[in-house]
Amino acid sequence: MLILGIETSCDETALALIEVDNGDGKMRCRVVQSLVHSQAELHSAYGGVYPTLAKREHGKNLVPLMHKLILEAGDALRTFKTDKKPITDPEFDSVMKMFEKEIAPQNPELYQSFKDAKFLKNPLHIDRIAVTEGPGLEPALWVGINFARMLGALWNIPIIPVNHMEGHVVGSLLDENILNGSWTDLKPVQFPAIAFLISGGHTELVEVTNQSDDSRPNLSYKILGKTKDDAVGEAFDKSARLLGLPYPGGPHISMLAEKARQEMIIPKVKLPRPMQKSGDLDFSFSGLKTAVLYAVRDNCDKDGKVSEEFKKGLSLEFENAISETLDYKLRRAIDESGAKSIIIGGGVSANKMLRETFTKTAKEYSLQIYLPTPHVSGDNALMIALSGALMRNVETRNLKADGTKKLS
Ligand code: KG4
Ligand code: ZN
Repeated sequence: MLILGIETSCDETALALIEVDNGDGKMRCRVVQSLVHSQAELHSAYGGVYPTLAKREHGKNLVPLMHKLILEAGDALRTFKTDKKPITDPEFDSVMKMFEKEIAPQNPELYQSFKDAKFLKNPLHIDRIAVTEGPGLEPALWVGINFARMLGALWNIPIIPVNHMEGHVVGSLLDENILNGSWTDLKPVQFPAIAFLISGGHTELVEVTNQSDDSRPNLSYKILGKTKDDAVGEAFDKSARLLGLPYPGGPHISMLAEKARQEMIIPKVKLPRPMQKSGDLDFSFSGLKTAVLYAVRDNCDKDGKVSEEFKKGLSLEFENAISETLDYKLRRAIDESGAKSIIIGGGVSANKMLRETFTKTAKEYSLQIYLPTPHVSGDNALMIALSGALMRNVETRNLKADGTKKLS
């Protein structure tokens, strides 16, 4: 089974093609191609993701990215013989007509580039399209959904809506070598597991159970705790901005913190470790961000600038505060749920120090931990295609972007 994944929930336009084999109750997969086009540089000027810009960029990027995907998949794709005939001009025109009223005004860039894309007249033998339905920025989500709808209608392929957060969970179960094109099994997980989802939009502790007894997981989710305000990635990005660092700020703070450790810089300021006494598994990062604001205000020169040494020290203290806060709640979640393993997912899981902290905790509890490889830690379509592969039944319902879609 060949699955196309489409991801446009935030500022990454991503497409992936994966092949999945469910023979003998065993699920194996291999990546034909997975491409991510980041818009981060464009959004950097705004200090964060600018939804209207994200929507327009996805509209411009999707069709060229699809072209690139097919070209780069090259030989690997030729093994999928298709009995589908090339699409005639009248057939193509009738699909475009069907969506003209609805999609052209909403996503003009997407509609126009789709209409001009001659290569789309040669259908691929794709069995399913998996597209992110939410959570995320609704205008951005709609572009991916509309692309899926047009492609699905043109090539006659069913479309499966996918939860972006489930994508982050299953993406972390992929093998390190997944991008070399070889077949791999999903990593076997002991359930119940605790999934810790840490990204620019989410900070969630989730209990994950499996309803399946074969190697194709059928997962269900219970949210144990979440942030009451900013997500952890947002806290990284906003604090980085206060320090005059570019968007996305997480990697920059992490880099400066690392330098501070190497240079043995002692932070000048002590930041709070929020919500440790809240008695639950929820988070709040807005106070931490305010503490960074005050620290910068109290230590800047008359032009509002802080020294490089101060930036390094504060980055170190910030990373430590985040790490202690997340680790404290992770331990509590393990204690309360009796979890048998830990799955870490979301963009912030790229953070080296957090990975080390969680790995140490897992070791202490003698639990297996699953961390995403670099390609799947940020937003990507491989995890979306994989999540689509896990769906037992292909339900063809009306697709609708759901900015606050919940895991269930
Ligand atoms: O999952 P993701 O790519 O997009 C969302 O769905 O939100 O996560 C993006 C977030 C950004 O806030 C970014 O600053 C953060 O992940 N991030 C990091 C690191 N790399 C990315 N945060 C801390 N340390 C990093 N190394
Ligand atoms: Zn994400």
